[in-house]
Amino acid sequence: MKILGLIGSYRKNGNSDILAKEALMGAEEAGAEVELLRLTNYRIEPCQGFGLCLFREEGCHIKDDVKFIWSKIGEADGILLSVPCYFLESTAVLKQLIDRAWVLAHRGTFRGKYASVMVPYATRGWIPYAMLQPNIFFGILGLKIIHRAAFNVQGLGEAVHDDAAIKKARRIGMELARAILDQDPTYRSERGLCPICQDRNIRILKDHKAVECPTCGIRGTLTVQDGIIDVVFDENAVSTYRFDPVVGYNHFTYHIKPSRDYFLRTKEDRKTKGKLYRDYLKDEG
Ligand SMILES: Cc1cc2nc3c(=O)[nH]c(=O)nc-3n(C[C@H](O)[C@H](O)[C@H](O)COP(=O)(O)O)c2cc1C
Repeated sequence: MKILGLIGSYRKNGNSDILAKEALMGAEEAGAEVELLRLTNYRIEPCQGFGLCLFREEGCHIKDDVKFIWSKIGEADGILLSVPCYFLESTAVLKQLIDRAWVLAHRGTFRGKYASVMVPYATRGWIPYAMLQPNIFFGILGLKIIHRAAFNVQGLGEAVHDDAAIKKARRIGMELARAILDQDPTYRSERGLCPICQDRNIRILKDHKAVECPTCGIRGTLTVQDGIIDVVFDENAVSTYRFDPVVGYNHFTYHIKPSRDYFLRTKEDRKTKGKLYRDYLKDEG
């Protein structure tokens, strides 16, 4: 059984490294073989948005290191992602990789593997979207998340001083390994509001009646009882989860595929009408 650590920080020997390494030591202790990749060491080009990757057997045409990263994820049974919070969310390297994961969204290549997320951060209250990209990433890939944890550690390598953080990281690694061995996807971290991504970000919809988890797209209603605000999600909400395989299949079949037919059908008209914009303010340079 293999667990792959993915680091989303450029800083070597920083907090993401320390927490990931401690967790991987825990995973090793629980019987896992472990490996570590720093995402910033690899060339991850931006998605070029062709969309052709969705229809071609061979997938994305870009020649960089992303296929290597996917192959490493493919070899692993579990992923341990350690990514710091930068300006309220994840570092850009993770978003860059997420966009490139489009090709995998409807294929289910890694579906059913396990994952855990660790987020070092510096300032309390400055992490509202820190789990957003990890949730999207593992949502697209179809991984089952066992732990999501944020660690309040600021300066370079300061995590070594925080015994509680080190202990928690080791437990997260051990429990990820055990979850894989037992094939037990039970969620082990503190629960949030959304039953799927466990985040606490809730969006009020335009009708001011319903609310939704903006990451998962599941809907419910706000309740206030004795001054306690809560969300009651619709009974069948979980089956409408944005990254659910059936929802994904329908999105691909009834939204993306027809858009290709429309695109091909309207080619000549677009050529004529688009000339105005092609000729105005050229940006090649
Ligand atoms: C550009 C930049 C933006 C940051 N933004 C935030 C932030 O919004 N919230 C926060 O709590 N910490 C923020 N931090 C602090 C890092 O999350 C923190 O230092 C973390 O421990 C770094 O992990 P690393 O050592 O693995 O890189 C930021 C750091 C940098 C360099």
